Amino acid sequence: ESAEKGSYRHFMLKEIYEQPQAVQRTLEDRLAADHVLPAAFGPDASTLFAKVKKIQIVACGTSYHAGMVARYWLEGLTNTPCQVEVASEFRYRHVAVQPDTLFVTISQSGETADTLAALRHRQDNAYLASLTICNVGTSSLVRESDLALLTRAGPEIGVASTKAFSTQLVGLLLLTLAIGRARHTLAPAQEREIVDALRTLSAKLNDALAISATIEAKAQLFAEKNHALFLGRGEQFPVALEGALKLKEISYIHAEAYPAGELKHGPLALVDSDMPVVTVAPNNALLEKLKSNLQEVSARGGQLLVFADREAHLSEDEQTQVVNMPSIHPVLAPILYTIPLQLLSYYVAVLKGTDVDQPRNLAKSVTVE
Ligand code: G6P
Repeated sequence: ESAEKGSYRHFMLKEIYEQPQAVQRTLEDRLAADHVLPAAFGPDASTLFAKVKKIQIVACGTSYHAGMVARYWLEGLTNTPCQVEVASEFRYRHVAVQPDTLFVTISQSGETADTLAALRHRQDNAYLASLTICNVGTSSLVRESDLALLTRAGPEIGVASTKAFSTQLVGLLLLTLAIGRARHTLAPAQEREIVDALRTLSAKLNDALAISATIEAKAQLFAEKNHALFLGRGEQFPVALEGALKLKEISYIHAEAYPAGELKHGPLALVDSDMPVVTVAPNNALLEKLKSNLQEVSARGGQLLVFADREAHLSEDEQTQVVNMPSIHPVLAPILYTIPLQLLSYYVAVLKGTDVDQPRNLAKSVTVE
């Protein structure tokens, strides 16, 4: 086991550092000069994608958070209506299926019981087709879906998912671009711009990993705390959810994520100096709104840790610590901002001395209900 970990102390840290290469593999052979090759999803995928009018995503845990990011991409970039639901709910309720809906599952293992049951028990004829974004080629989900895109993250050992998540996001962005092209709802100039940005993603992730020592130092803020709040807006809200999940899973600190605009509808009542607030603040259209949300927190004595684009010009004060992130194309920001949140939860867990790779009560793959 120690041999496989190489020089890393834990599998989780190794897997965090593998993300630039993993993402590169996910993109390999799947990009033409200015578009995504639809064959990446299986034969005739583009004919099928042209018929798609709606997308239903079903997944669990971290994979569900990837699906939530994809909804912002699919609706925002390709005007394709999209719903996302956890599999344990979806499988047991009557779903009103609209015509020409593509059924999409997301899973690292391809064996999660609820996700598999959702695929098997969906009102079969009602859907146009099924597609899975999955890391294991021989898995049940891949075998039983009409189309599949393998994420090629390589084996993930740490129970807390890291490289599986970032590669799922890449796979879902490829799906978004392929759907937008087939449906003629994505402007070619924007398509090319995102494809170009994808080619530099791996290097950007390396830049984000390079600030790990800064993040390690910030972990001190959390080691003695019992609660933490994570904030994000837009497609960064699911990134905040994923950051909170990571902290819960491996450091056993109670963490919640909120869309920053919802602060005043409840969580603000909890904010004091004992509840650190983590925020992801890329330089996007919602930045100014986010800044005023941050003021709401500091006015109540909250301690802020903000991961921000250096162009966002966020300044530090007694209550606000800012970690500058590399600039990136806004569409790819959720992938980049995932990295510091993974590192943060990792270093907090190390400080607390928990079993990082095998947190108590959790399993890597939940194959029974
Ligand atoms: C478990 C794991 C999570 C994972 C979830 C879904 O809870 O601990 O890391 O996100 O299952 O697993 P899947 O293999 O379907 O992505």
